Amino acid sequence: MFNLFKKKKEEVKKGAFLPLKVREVVRETPDTVSIYFEQPEPIMDYKPGQFLTLVMDFDGKEERRSYSLCTSPYVDPFPGISIKRVTGGLFSNFLNEKIFPGKTINVLPPMGNFTIDFHSKNQRHYIMVAGGSGITPIMGLLKSVLVNEPNSIVTLIYCSRSEDQIIFKNQLDMLEKANPDRFKVKHNLSQPSESWTGFKGRLNKDSFHSLVSMAEYEKRYEEIYFLCGPDGIMNTAKEVLNELGVDEKRVYEESFYSAAAEQAKAEAKAGATKGLLTRDVKITLEGEEHMVSVSPDKTILEAGLEQGLNMPYSCQSGLCTACRGKLTQGQVKMDEDAGLSKNEIEEGYILCCSSRAASDDIQINIE
Ligand code: FES
Repeated sequence: MFNLFKKKKEEVKKGAFLPLKVREVVRETPDTVSIYFEQPEPIMDYKPGQFLTLVMDFDGKEERRSYSLCTSPYVDPFPGISIKRVTGGLFSNFLNEKIFPGKTINVLPPMGNFTIDFHSKNQRHYIMVAGGSGITPIMGLLKSVLVNEPNSIVTLIYCSRSEDQIIFKNQLDMLEKANPDRFKVKHNLSQPSESWTGFKGRLNKDSFHSLVSMAEYEKRYEEIYFLCGPDGIMNTAKEVLNELGVDEKRVYEESFYSAAAEQAKAEAKAGATKGLLTRDVKITLEGEEHMVSVSPDKTILEAGLEQGLNMPYSCQSGLCTACRGKLTQGQVKMDEDAGLSKNEIEEGYILCCSSRAASDDIQINIE
């Protein structure tokens, strides 16, 4: 795993973009599309639940955004991502409106730890909780379980706003029909139509508790949880699982959007973060030292890139760790550290894409 990560980080550093040709664009809901790519040569190696980082030029400026793969390498011949439009979103609006088959998009190698190894002997109950476009990586994962682990079962708790916002509705219906004893979907809609007879209302601790308890437990199954969605759903799910005494090692989570991180970013941009001043940061990049001036409204990665440093990065969301460095002196403030393990944080590792300079004499080593 470590070697694979190291190899991918090397590729990211070298700027080794993989050009993927769009094969098909599928409209999933009024504001979500899936984009499927032709397999490159050699075929793209990825794990279900991972993401691709798209690299595109907008007005002469290179921008990157990460999108989860909705496909399974064990089931789907062509890799695909799904993109939900967000208001004002540069990539999401472009991809929802202006992408068509035949176009080529540069991507970075698939990355991400929201995945698991499968084995035909496993006898697990995967309880997957998705909110909105959080279904995307879950889709690849659940298809992989169903095909690789004949003795495992899957319950999906999927929260959407309304009937027309349910992404992959047909695929989920078909998978449920094809696997009646092994796969159950429990849709929960926050604003359903009057004819909706399923679960409804905002997911809260009580409703999540009853949804989880309704999942048909049998003690012969080892329970594994995958959570992906907005903060509200993730926090509710984690609180309930905590109350139920579920070991956190059995809970996998991912969210590209963290309200706390967004607020920290907005405060930094507005100059409202106390204690942050413009500081000089010494960055050692592959053995070479550079002094970078980092203002409070910039992350260390943004400042380094602006000063022409070839710093590695991918998701810019604090998840992939491609931008990881070791803080050898001084202090930084991280908006998001979800990609780092507790051990890494204790050892002084930081994510440059979400770190802001918080003291004098900061030194960071990026290998
Ligand atoms: S670029 Fe992905 S964690 Fe920083």
